[in-house]
Amino acid sequence: MSADRHRGDNVQVFTVTLQRTGRRFDVAAGETVLEAAQRAGIALPYSCRAGVCGSCKATLLAGRCEYPRNPPLALDADERARHAVLLCQAVPASDLLLEAREVASVEDIARRRLAVRVAEKRLLAPDVTGLHLLPAAGQSRLQWLPGQYLDVLLDGDRRRPFSIANGPQPDGTIELHVRHVAGGGFTSWVADGLAVGETLHIEGPLGTFVAREDSERPMIFMAGGTGIAPVKAIVEHFLALGTRRAMDIYWGVRSAADLYLLPQIGQWRRQAPQLRFHAVLSEAGQAVAAGQRAGLVHEAVLADHPELSAHDVYMSGPPAMIDLARHRFVAAGLPEDRLYYDSFDYAPDVLAQIIAGRAGFHPAT
Ligand SMILES: Cc1cc2nc3c(=O)[nH]c(=O)nc-3n(C[C@H](O)[C@H](O)[C@H](O)COP(=O)(O)OP(=O)(O)OC[C@H]3O[C@@H](n4cnc5c(N)ncnc54)[C@H](O)[C@@H]3O)c2cc1C
Ligand code: FES
Repeated sequence: MSADRHRGDNVQVFTVTLQRTGRRFDVAAGETVLEAAQRAGIALPYSCRAGVCGSCKATLLAGRCEYPRNPPLALDADERARHAVLLCQAVPASDLLLEAREVASVEDIARRRLAVRVAEKRLLAPDVTGLHLLPAAGQSRLQWLPGQYLDVLLDGDRRRPFSIANGPQPDGTIELHVRHVAGGGFTSWVADGLAVGETLHIEGPLGTFVAREDSERPMIFMAGGTGIAPVKAIVEHFLALGTRRAMDIYWGVRSAADLYLLPQIGQWRRQAPQLRFHAVLSEAGQAVAAGQRAGLVHEAVLADHPELSAHDVYMSGPPAMIDLARHRFVAAGLPEDRLYYDSFDYAPDVLAQIIAGRAGFHPAT
């Protein structure tokens, strides 16, 4: 590989080659591998874009990269020793040869910005607001794949990511499930201030948490809290396709009042007899009172499926749940490239500030 190439304006450019497909793209000085791939129209997996969730993990086969932005917190010492890199933070210091998964299905839909109007606002659970958004006058519908997310654009270049809880609709409706974060500026405003008829500015679609249709394996879906939003979109997509694959849906919440989608899930079960639903409540007293299973949701998955090598697993929700589950599921035999997830971390700018302010910060603690 040739190193030290320069563009006309004398800015150093390195080339990344993806080993599986042989595709190549240039990375400008200071750019991350993920940013450059997106500019080149190549979809590599990602979720948090802040170095904390691990979904953009790849293996460096040749070359060197650096982490001038956030440290690669999602990599443990073993993974680093095996030359794992995080594409959302890695900035090349030479040409690179990478072993990375590509998510070709999301490549065809261009990301765009649009204004949307709040058409409906409902309290779904004590701390969850449901929003229906419609394109503002003169705007065309957003296109996306079920499971993807969007960024709500705020002033000062800030953004807040939220999963889209439905698939594309003829009238353009976008459904969001927004959990109120204590001390969180945007989600507090959604809960207490945002009114029907107001306009939001969004950018999407984003993310690579989408249905993988080239498999006949049984599927496990695991959601924590509002992590059910993208799971809902993906499950509904598989149901619309008439899938006969076994589907086990595990939904971990604190209390029975948080199970805001039960009527919908009841419909899914009537539509697809091979679909099984498991609610798991983390507050033991609440679980007993509601006659539901108690404990942590990933432990319930493992209790029912101690061996996961034959499954595809989709999961989304709180970072601590994702971090624990991804290690435990891989230890239970699940190949890492069949574990698809979105980790509901805070926005990249907020995480960058928290990481900078707290030496040793780890999202799972
Ligand atoms: C891919 C993806 C999809 C997501 N989908 C969903 C979804 O569908 N539904 C959902 O409910 N959530 C989702 N999330 C999470 C959601 O984006 C966050 O909860 C949201 O961004 C919080 O925004 P906020 O403005 O309310 O809070 P923020 O203002 O971002 O604050 C978050 C927390 O950090 C603290 N904080 C802020 N700045 C600092 C600082 N400098 N130092 C220390 N602490 C600080 C705040 O007090 C608060 O507790 C998703 C996240 C990702 C990455
Ligand atoms: S660690 Fe890179 S996308 Fe989350």
